[in-house]
Amino acid sequence: MKSYELKLSELHILIEDVAENFKNGVVILQGDLACGKTTFVKEMAKKLGYGADVTSPTFSLQHCYGDKIFHYDIYNHGLEHFISLGMLEELEKEGLHFVEWGSDELVAILTSAGIDTLTIKIEKISDDMRKYRVEYAYA
Ligand SMILES: Nc1ncnc2c1ncn2[C@@H]1O[C@H](COP(=O)(O)OP(=O)(O)O)[C@@H](O)[C@H]1O
Ligand SMILES: [Mg+2]
Repeated sequence: MKSYELKLSELHILIEDVAENFKNGVVILQGDLACGKTTFVKEMAKKLGYGADVTSPTFSLQHCYGDKIFHYDIYNHGLEHFISLGMLEELEKEGLHFVEWGSDELVAILTSAGIDTLTIKIEKISDDMRKYRVEYAYA
């Protein structure tokens, strides 16, 4: 497990690490409201060439940026509902999938389905600093 303490202006350090080491699979973002989950997705999308509108799909199930970047937010759906809507099949699609509020249970389900995951646990250290715990799980 790797860990980073980064200001917003330093977030690119983590972004470059992830962009280099995780090109296909599901990135699970965990952490309280306003810790920086959506910001991480926005910066990753930018790094991968999609600078346009990245917003959390709070009410819709999925946002797509280009045809290889997918963004989900489970908060309003809950894992069971999310799965019952067939979203596991979506997560198997080639590309990078970002799931805000994904649980450890989802990581376990994906691993046993043969899907690589990267879990990022974000914690607010202060108003201008976040801690990121990064754990890769290759299926
Ligand atoms: N590494 C960071 N350091 C400082 N502030 C950050 C960092 N990452 C995000 N933020 C700020 O935290 C706030 C909430 O971010 P957001 O991505 O909307 O959180 P979440 O999606 O977890 O609710 C935003 O104002 C954002 O600029
Ligand atoms: Mg968000």
